[in-house]
Amino acid sequence: MIKAKDLTYEYIRVMETDHGTKEEKVSALKQVNMEIEQGDFIAVLGHNGSGKSTFAKQINALLQPTGGTLWVKDMDTKNDALVWDIRQTAGMVFQNPDNQLVATVVEEDIAFGPENMGVEPKEIRRRVDEALATVRMEEYATHTPSKLSGGQKQRIAIAGVLAMKPDCIVLDEPTAMLDPVGRREVMETIERLNKEEGITMILITHYMDEAVRADKVFVIDDGDLVMQGTPREIFSQVEELKKYGLDVPQVTEVAYLLRKEGIDLPADILTIEEMVGAVCQLKSTI
Ligand SMILES: Nc1ncnc2c1ncn2[C@@H]1O[C@H](COP(=O)(O)OP(=O)(O)O)[C@@H](O)[C@H]1O
Ligand SMILES: [Mg+2]
Repeated sequence: MIKAKDLTYEYIRVMETDHGTKEEKVSALKQVNMEIEQGDFIAVLGHNGSGKSTFAKQINALLQPTGGTLWVKDMDTKNDALVWDIRQTAGMVFQNPDNQLVATVVEEDIAFGPENMGVEPKEIRRRVDEALATVRMEEYATHTPSKLSGGQKQRIAIAGVLAMKPDCIVLDEPTAMLDPVGRREVMETIERLNKEEGITMILITHYMDEAVRADKVFVIDDGDLVMQGTPREIFSQVEELKKYGLDVPQVTEVAYLLRKEGIDLPADILTIEEMVGAVCQLKSTI
């Protein structure tokens, strides 16, 4: 679905000096190599400024590599002629839902993408209804987006992407501005679209409990892809994650601290259920 070969991106930062302006290069992605299969659910972690949003924008061809190559379904994102095909294949959802909803009525907002693609009206109607049903927002079709909750707005934003029939959706911290209820609604939607519709999901997040639910986790640090593996493989490496300024899920942290105290718990505990199971096994030895 997506393949990066030595993917590199440098921003040019223009700085004011006493003698006019000076240009400085900022390396946001440094020779990243990776592959994402169709149907994968990938979580991308990394502290602030590590290059996650830059990576997301590459997949959507909002930014093009300054070095190396990125292919989205075999389409080279440096090929300007393919930009619209790439954007239709890999849709994007941003952090702030208010910045991506464009119309004053929910169903018009969802129709916006396919309208721009030149899809015929009957097909647009069908897609809007289907997308609304998929994110469980049918009853809000004629509502005003600005009156919805944050979680509902994000689901409308996802519906807008779905109406373009993408193979892949990149979500850049979509739950960062939501309350716990909104977060749960959006996560459920993401997981369902992945499992039931087979849509490849690339979720950038700083919530470890969200990353635990992915098939695979990528860790980006200062423009480098420094770790990749299953959530269990990644989160059992507590020391290494801390080196990159990242946390582990709360239960994993507790297991880690107990292990340090000499208590024999597995290093790869990810859920409360697993913790309960492991602690019950211990009891006899304490
Ligand atoms: N428009 C820009 N101009 C110059 N530098 C930028 C720009 N956008 C991001 N950067 C820099 O690129 C690096 C990666 O940023 P970003 O991809 O936004 O990281 P993240 O999403 O992980 O917080 C940071 O050092 C950031 O300051
Ligand atoms: Mg970002």
